[in-house]
Amino acid sequence: MSKTSNINRVDGFAKVTGSATYSAEYKTPGVAYACLVGSTIAKGRIKTIDTKKAEWAPGVLAVITHLNVDKPAGYEQPKKRDNLGQPLQIFKDDSVRYYDQPIALVIADTFERMQYAASLIKADYLKEDHSTELEKVKDKGKTPERAKDYHRGVEDGYKNAEVILEEEYTIPTEVHNPMELANIIAKWDGNKPTLYTKSQGVEGTRRSVGDVFGIPAADVSVNSEYLGGAFGMGLHTWPYEIAALIGAKKINRPVKLVLHREQMFTNVGFRPYTIQKMGLGATKEGKLTGLTHEAIAMTSSYEDFMEGTVNMSRFIYDCANVSTRYRIVPLDTCTPIWMRGPGEATGSFALESAMDELAHKLDMDPIEFRKLNYAEKDLEQNKPWSSKYLLECYEGGMERIGWKNRKNKPGSVREGEWLVGYGMGTGTFGCYRSPTSVKAKFLTNGTLVLQCSVNDMGPGTATMMTAIGADVTGIPSENVIIEMGKSGLAKGPTQGGSATTSSVGSAVNDSCQLLITKAIELASKSEALKNVPITDLAFANGSITSKKDSSKRVSLVEVLNANKLEELVVENESKASEEAKKYSIYSFSVHFVKVLINPNLGKIRLAHVVSCADIGTVINQKTSAGQMYGGAVGGIGMGLMESLEIDHRFGRPINNNFADYHVPVNADIEKQEVFFVNKKDPISNPMGTKGLGETALVGMAPAIANAVFNATGIRVRDLPITLDKIL
Ligand code: MOS
Repeated sequence: MSKTSNINRVDGFAKVTGSATYSAEYKTPGVAYACLVGSTIAKGRIKTIDTKKAEWAPGVLAVITHLNVDKPAGYEQPKKRDNLGQPLQIFKDDSVRYYDQPIALVIADTFERMQYAASLIKADYLKEDHSTELEKVKDKGKTPERAKDYHRGVEDGYKNAEVILEEEYTIPTEVHNPMELANIIAKWDGNKPTLYTKSQGVEGTRRSVGDVFGIPAADVSVNSEYLGGAFGMGLHTWPYEIAALIGAKKINRPVKLVLHREQMFTNVGFRPYTIQKMGLGATKEGKLTGLTHEAIAMTSSYEDFMEGTVNMSRFIYDCANVSTRYRIVPLDTCTPIWMRGPGEATGSFALESAMDELAHKLDMDPIEFRKLNYAEKDLEQNKPWSSKYLLECYEGGMERIGWKNRKNKPGSVREGEWLVGYGMGTGTFGCYRSPTSVKAKFLTNGTLVLQCSVNDMGPGTATMMTAIGADVTGIPSENVIIEMGKSGLAKGPTQGGSATTSSVGSAVNDSCQLLITKAIELASKSEALKNVPITDLAFANGSITSKKDSSKRVSLVEVLNANKLEELVVENESKASEEAKKYSIYSFSVHFVKVLINPNLGKIRLAHVVSCADIGTVINQKTSAGQMYGGAVGGIGMGLMESLEIDHRFGRPINNNFADYHVPVNADIEKQEVFFVNKKDPISNPMGTKGLGETALVGMAPAIANAVFNATGIRVRDLPITLDKIL
């Protein structure tokens, strides 16, 4: 274990003392306050909008609607981004495409005057019939371009099996809703905007803002240094950000816009409501012979959102005949966006519930059933795994949760009045790596500075960069300085898809290695080392030393001073190796749950939760465990509590607040543990990491459903598992 593997979170002090500056907190002279007024219908047109009273209210600087907006230049020929279609062009016309869609921006000189003025705006609508209920239009799905139907072996081959399971599962809409609200301070310097905003991708935000305003991305400055969580909602540039920019341009003053909590449920994406059909077939002995996985998910009327809901079913088990189908159906809502464990979190609920159901039908232990169908290689890509320690995860979890106390027959274990149930669910997520630049600098004060525009939405990216930089150079971690989360630095990736450590960590590693080479070259010309062959020189702890004679050494600071250099700098871009393409690289996780259920009250207690993961090398135990705890809690919310309830008569959410939209708190989980296999992946990247953020959540919801079944014999196929469903 390296000495940096347990360093404290480097941004911890700033965060707990309040000195970390979040976007809306930047001191901005002359800042004006803005808010968005939302539509009160889900579909139709704005017939009239009365802004007069608001405009005349004290302190009001501007009221912007579709009637008076200066349309950004890029509205004419919008560019397509990623797999999304056309993002909502705010204030473009009189159309309303979802409930609470912004119809006006109100800007005033104080927060209170802005709020008051916004309350004076009245709109009349030409209402049209809206569609917000996926169940009613589920047959109207279309296949997204990048989610073609997949078949291996016989199409729907499960139907020919000796033992068949066919079931349908649903997950409701869930919202990210991080503690820190979506927020922005926008300002312009001529035609160049600066945004302090909640973004998971500085460079991505620069590009999309550049597109909307018809200016080069390089002219857009983005600062997103600290984030109070995001979970995926920061992966999209949202209409509120564009609105603030339009407003700031109009009044020629900086504008601050912070969404209300209610708007976080309607305007910044969500995990989409998804209906899934599973068909599994096996021999009587429990060998899987067929697997069909179909998903129908919602998107919005103006963007095609898709995610890898059915992907895991193609490779996680050894099965000759596999079919997957994925459809999306437009509804009159805001566009969904990736939410932690996107796709796989939804897919694993159906797959891992169905696996448990089939194991029960076969009267097999669910883990024995999975081991019998263990995939020795990736049958989808027909490639070997780069590494796979899923069996170690099973073993580690079984021991910790006390799996030996589980009985196959539901309802057969009790603790006093409580029914006891054990369940598990498997998770996985791809290991991606994006091209990433890192600038590394040695300074004459003995510090190592690492710069990258990637941000840290909370997982500990800065801590990971510090640990790797310190490990490679031997510079003590307290002398490593990280500069990140803003444009102008070496270009980093979007933080998402569990890829940050693999992408940015590798770039830190490579830049630091190159920096050492450069330091050795420079030092080899120094008086002290000029007779030592360069191949005999090594860098450690800030000094260059002869490997054969440690008395021959010179500190890097001395070398810099002798050469009259203030710093030694390397900027380098790293990307995935060609070798890596020959392998299938995935992280794996298994969540284990012990529930206690009161059969009279329906109360479900999480007595013990164990989350095990094969994420390759663990760079930092503390931040990785923190990620795993947090992700698992997200999965518990998915399993037991979270659901955005829509009143379909009006197409609007009912529980758009934290009193009614429930998420787990400490008291909801009695004992939680984390276990990492912590074995290096030989292929993924120089550190051998595989990614963690998503697998921390994927597989938890089915683990709970399976435990609930084991305790009660009641199978809940519609999340969340609230007590009414088991009474
Ligand atoms: Mo994650 S859903 O890629 O922020």
